[in-house]
Amino acid sequence: MVTDRTEPPIERRASLRAFNSFGLPAVAATLVRVRSESDVKRMVDHPEIGPAPKLILGGGSNLVLTRDVAAVVLKVEIPGRRLVSASPEAVVVEAGAGENWHDFVAWTLEQGWPGLENLALIPGTVGAAPVQNIGAYGVELAERFESLDGVDLITGRSVTLSAAQCAFGYRDSVFKQLLAGKTLITRVRFRLPRPWQPVLGYLDLQRRMHETGVHDPDARTVFDWVCAIRRAKLPDPQQIGNAGSFFKNPVVSAEQCRDIIGRDPSVVHYPLPDGHFKLAAGWLIDACGWKGKSIGRAGVYERQALVLVNRGGAIGAEVLTLARAIQESVYGRFGIRLEPEPLIL
Ligand code: EPU
Repeated sequence: MVTDRTEPPIERRASLRAFNSFGLPAVAATLVRVRSESDVKRMVDHPEIGPAPKLILGGGSNLVLTRDVAAVVLKVEIPGRRLVSASPEAVVVEAGAGENWHDFVAWTLEQGWPGLENLALIPGTVGAAPVQNIGAYGVELAERFESLDGVDLITGRSVTLSAAQCAFGYRDSVFKQLLAGKTLITRVRFRLPRPWQPVLGYLDLQRRMHETGVHDPDARTVFDWVCAIRRAKLPDPQQIGNAGSFFKNPVVSAEQCRDIIGRDPSVVHYPLPDGHFKLAAGWLIDACGWKGKSIGRAGVYERQALVLVNRGGAIGAEVLTLARAIQESVYGRFGIRLEPEPLIL
């Protein structure tokens, strides 16, 4: 049921500092908070808002703001959580795009629907999760995805996209490419397979099993372990501004990998099914001596070199300067170009 409300207010010259987890200063010329699908459609039909370029903003946890935003910022605040179906094979659950991701994960566990526990404590919203195909500790969103609803911001039509249509890749989807700024995700459905099987292959989880002696953890235990692991090595954006991993883990050919191992035998590398290797960008940055270093008010987190942080009052340009310096030194030493993971505006 769509409850007809009045048009959402159009905010002018809105500060975005509180809406990006890096805590970077920037002003949106126009910002609208959308709380329902009909709000989105009203904005598409709006004579002034409709034709303007859009920036779709979720939790702002994967964003580096280097300047003020001229595009119309649509801040997605669509609420709601529900069970769609339950069968012996799977539980399908749905959440509004504006729901907080971690709270949603915790809620599914409380309901007795495990499957998302490895993705606990990832900052951001449900609607942003498919955009970058969030992943952690051996599980990617794509593996738990059913479908999503959105609104085409050109035509105002409702659309439903399957996993194939979302074109998920490593920290990538169609929403970072072809549909960027064009389709606003309103609701996401997740398929949680039954019977539940824990995913415990990731090294950090293996360590927990050995330390605790618990070899058949339930979903709640895996959830608690993931939270503890994340808290130990990733900064809480409420306390230290950051956008999670700043670079993607680079993929190199077997030949390139052999060459790097020849020079640095301890390089952290993982074989991929297609014969390529994924390298740990954090390790590469760490090896270049960046951990704990700063340029201006932007720094490299002490406990995880893949995370750049705001040491207090940083502006986006400082973060970019630091990122470029890191890219140059990693390229100089290893011949690898690191690709930023967050959206840089
Ligand atoms: N490492 C170092 N030094 C560092 C950081 C890492 O030597 O400063 C080494 C670690 O010892 C480990 C390897 O690099 O051997 C990989 O580190 P870690 O397990 O912490 O994972 P990651 O590759 O740095 C990725 C994701 C994270 C995700 C974790 C866990 C990317 C870009 N990042 O990090 O995702 O939480 O795995 O699955 O894929 C994010 O995307 O924002 C994010 C935090």
